[in-house]
Amino acid sequence: MNYLPLDTRYDTMRYNRSGRSGLRLPAVSLGLWYNFGGVDPLENARAMLRRAFDLGVTHFDLANNYGPPPGSAEETLGLIMKQDLAPYRDELIISNKAGYFMWPGPYGEWGSRKYLIASCDQSLKRTGLDYFDIFYSHRPDPKTPLEETMSALDYIVRSGRALYVGISTYSPEQTRQASQILRDLGTPCLIHQPRYNMFDRWIEEGLLDVLDEEGIGCICFSPLAQGILTNKYLDRVPDESRAAKYEGQLHWGDKVNQERLAKVRELREIAQARGQTMAQLAIAWVLRHPGMTSALIGASRVSQIEDAVSALDNLSFSEEELSSIEAILN
Ligand SMILES: NC(=O)c1ccc[n+]([C@@H]2O[C@H](COP(=O)([O-])OP(=O)(O)OC[C@H]3O[C@@H](n4cnc5c(N)ncnc54)[C@H](OP(=O)(O)O)[C@@H]3O)[C@@H](O)[C@H]2O)c1
Repeated sequence: MNYLPLDTRYDTMRYNRSGRSGLRLPAVSLGLWYNFGGVDPLENARAMLRRAFDLGVTHFDLANNYGPPPGSAEETLGLIMKQDLAPYRDELIISNKAGYFMWPGPYGEWGSRKYLIASCDQSLKRTGLDYFDIFYSHRPDPKTPLEETMSALDYIVRSGRALYVGISTYSPEQTRQASQILRDLGTPCLIHQPRYNMFDRWIEEGLLDVLDEEGIGCICFSPLAQGILTNKYLDRVPDESRAAKYEGQLHWGDKVNQERLAKVRELREIAQARGQTMAQLAIAWVLRHPGMTSALIGASRVSQIEDAVSALDNLSFSEEELSSIEAILN
């Protein structure tokens, strides 16, 4: 059936400026790491992308290796763009990345110019898009000069393959250096994509300060710790869950996760007192930083996207709430 987006799609979403750029991103963005691959039902992927756009989620995040199999999430997005979303291309921000293993041999991963440009071209082909809005170096490469990786990103923009560039999981020091190189090249770094959630707070030790100083935005991935910061695992591991389907991804049974679940039970009480679900509390909490541009969630069904977007109804925290959360997390 032909898709017509809701007229109300821009009524409630918040859009935050990415660093000191001109680009605003939705406070909640949708990533296609899981549940959009060739092994997943296409109609569910379509329903999630449609509903997200209807709710003002204008940003979808890809990487070359998302699937499974690798590359297939790009094909899924490409197909749904073609069938449903093509008329709205200028209302969408689609990002992609290269850095992890994609093909055998010395040019199939990391951060060389050879790999990044070839991977970007493959990704454009798989998605059928003319350009990406943001192209990332997915991880720092200890063996390639940073200048080479950054100049490849600059070239990707200059050659029309992308509009902006970003970096993912770079340390504070690497970020500062990358930012300076990119600025000198004339393609400022738009955004950094680090993991950040209640259980993984490394960005508070230096990275957020560097991003603020350099005028770079921040979009944090796994704000729900892949589902642990929701109600879903509190009683059991449901069959239809990432922990059950991809054993090893969440290191289930791990003592750390069991300890975390005990904390989630306590955190849920704070969420309930705020009139929120656990997932909503976790999303509001990452967005409490003024420099946090967007929370990049994953989803396996439409209701999870609706749940996440409703977090925006209550983003303010009292001092008391924040210190109760700290007490539980520490
Ligand atoms: N740059 C990088 O290196 C990097 C690395 C990882 C991810 N990412 C990006 O970040 C995106 C998000 O990562 P993520 O999937 O780990 O994020 P996440 O939001 O922490 O976890 C998403 C998962 O949590 C569960 N979930 C979500 N909402 C829920 C709700 N309301 N109630 C109960 N369960 C809920 C779902 O799992 P079920 O399937 O169990 O339902 C969902 O697939 C990825 O798609 C990707 O774009 C980037």
